[in-house]
Amino acid sequence: MKITVIGAGNVGATVAQLLANQELANEIILVDVLEGIPEGKSLDMYESMPVLESDSKIFGTSNYEMTADSDIVIQTAGLARKPGMTRDDLLIKNAEIVSSCISQAFKYSPNAFYIIVSNPLDVMTFLAGKVTGLPRNKVVGMAGILDTARYRSFISMEIGVSMQDIQGMILGGHGDTMVPLPRYTTVAGIPVTDLIPKDRMDAICARAAGGGGEIVKYLKTGSAYYAPAAAAVQMVESIVKDQKRILPCSVMLEGEYGVTGAVVGVPVKLGKNCVEEIIELKLNDEEMTAFNKSVDHVRGTMKEASELLKL
Ligand code: 2OP
Repeated sequence: MKITVIGAGNVGATVAQLLANQELANEIILVDVLEGIPEGKSLDMYESMPVLESDSKIFGTSNYEMTADSDIVIQTAGLARKPGMTRDDLLIKNAEIVSSCISQAFKYSPNAFYIIVSNPLDVMTFLAGKVTGLPRNKVVGMAGILDTARYRSFISMEIGVSMQDIQGMILGGHGDTMVPLPRYTTVAGIPVTDLIPKDRMDAICARAAGGGGEIVKYLKTGSAYYAPAAAAVQMVESIVKDQKRILPCSVMLEGEYGVTGAVVGVPVKLGKNCVEEIIELKLNDEEMTAFNKSVDHVRGTMKEASELLKL
């Protein structure tokens, strides 16, 4: 297994480190335009492997040639939000960065699966699909796992139970319009709606939807990276080990949920063929209305990106 991580910033470096610590690849290539940074961070991580008892080898470079024949490419490069910005405010800059990085990587790894982490997430996943022309099962965005991880953390804080016992689902775009689904959330099999009163659940859902912004407000100069990196690595693990986990990820819909031609978060099965199935949940009217609103929002930004890059 050879995995390329594009972007040696906080998210990319943390992804590379987690991949190596968990020995999910024999070879990890960390790429960045900033010369010296990917080399230095990779060598530092490489040197930690004897202590961590992993045989993953990590190399840093600014040259995409070294990424050739990767099995998985993870796109993290791009600007991060500053306080007061929405993810959509990053569109113009990150559209250029993501399309340039992905087209360079694709030249050397046409058979890879592409996991997109750069924001605005759903639109960048759409762009990666356009740039590569790959079928939708091979280009997938990381967001739902991160959003549900926040949601699960807040539920755990609320009722004081293990996070491991909390299962949850969040659909839609990775932004303010995301749709947490308390009806599909359980604690050790018990519906969360039986355990937490509605007003508290509403507050938890709102905090999850604003979870990225909450971190940006603290950090001031950037956005979250530990949880985003952990989420991306969970996707890799499910693919590499063919676990077939059902995880919320961003993918191009072609009729599912009554939506065609939009990239948004839905539960998918991730295995050795990357996205192996899209799971359709039965939504009630209220959930469907919220989901459609989120899809419309993403469609608007996708249109903007298409016009910008003349796609
Ligand atoms: C977040 O939600 C950076 O979008 C990412 O933290």
